[in-house]
Amino acid sequence: MRVLGIETTCDETAAAIVSIERSGEHKILSNEVLSQIAAHAAYGGVVPEIAARAHVEAIDRIIARAFSDAGLKPGDIDAVAAAAGPGLVGGVMVGLTAGKAIALATGRPFIAVNHLEAHALTARLTDDLAFPYLLLLVSGGHTQLLAVRGVGDYLKLGGTIDDAVGEAFDKIAKMLTLPYPGGPSVEREAAKGDPERFDFPRPMQGRPNPDFSLSGLKTAVRLVAERIAPLSENDVADLCASFQAAVVDVMVDRTRAGLRACREAGIAPSTLVVAGGVAANQAICRGLGRLATEAGLPMVAPPLVLCGDNGAMIAWAGIERLRLGMVDDMGAVARPRWPLDELSAQSRSDNPKTVA
Ligand code: KG4
Ligand code: ZN
Repeated sequence: MRVLGIETTCDETAAAIVSIERSGEHKILSNEVLSQIAAHAAYGGVVPEIAARAHVEAIDRIIARAFSDAGLKPGDIDAVAAAAGPGLVGGVMVGLTAGKAIALATGRPFIAVNHLEAHALTARLTDDLAFPYLLLLVSGGHTQLLAVRGVGDYLKLGGTIDDAVGEAFDKIAKMLTLPYPGGPSVEREAAKGDPERFDFPRPMQGRPNPDFSLSGLKTAVRLVAERIAPLSENDVADLCASFQAAVVDVMVDRTRAGLRACREAGIAPSTLVVAGGVAANQAICRGLGRLATEAGLPMVAPPLVLCGDNGAMIAWAGIERLRLGMVDDMGAVARPRWPLDELSAQSRSDNPKTVA
């Protein structure tokens, strides 16, 4: 079985083809990602109208490349999956419409994939993980702890009450006039700085509920930066290092609370998984690795190319759904908001196989 996956929810236009054999053996046959970073860099963040237009201009070419890299023609695939949200609705509509058109033209089934579910299931593409596992999903728009019990079956244990982690990295970078996107810039600066120079707060640390709060930490960084301005190169590096150290502590402490909440809910996770764009951060991954060891669990973080937004994760989520007969029709709509636990409620009623 070969599935085309299309991703256009944010600032990457991406398409990929993933195959799976009857034995379960699977392969990424192509994975084309076109980043719009240059188009948004001047604004220090993603501009929805610019993103939607750039997706329109690139989508055909990126899908054509996904086919040619895999040495396949549209008639060679068995299904089409496209991200239907959550995300910037103008962009989502571009990928969703392209996916539906290819499904119609080839007569193949269509799967409207939840972008968060695709991040959540990536660890099964890369590491063949068994359910259930504990997932820390950290990206530019999301910061959540989830128990992944099955395809379409997610229990949200906690989430951020204000900013997402990636968003905090992006805002700190903008404040310190570091290049966009902020996460990699802050991590690069942090590597040169002193993580102990500034004692930033660790919001929510020690609380039993596995929720997150990042806006107070961001404000603390801004207040110190304003107090010691003008900033030298060392100051910027030390601010980044101290900020990142606080984020690592918070991620570790909150994930520890998530693990406890997961076990209290009667779920014994096989693995700790970190996914989403922020999973590219090596300091966060090292911290979580130590937590996993402490908890006696293996940890899985996808390789860099599969951490950020990509088409392979959409194709894989499509394969997971298709195998359970969970397909959609042409009525599937673009959804700017689409929480994963809502997906669970929906798939429980649609598909009794996924009842926990
Ligand atoms: O999953 P993703 O590609 O897009 C969303 O769905 O949001 O995540 C992008 C986010 C951005 O906020 C970016 O700054 C952050 O992930 N990010 C990082 C790193 N690389 C990307 N954050 C911290 N450290 C990094 N190395
Ligand atoms: Zn994402």
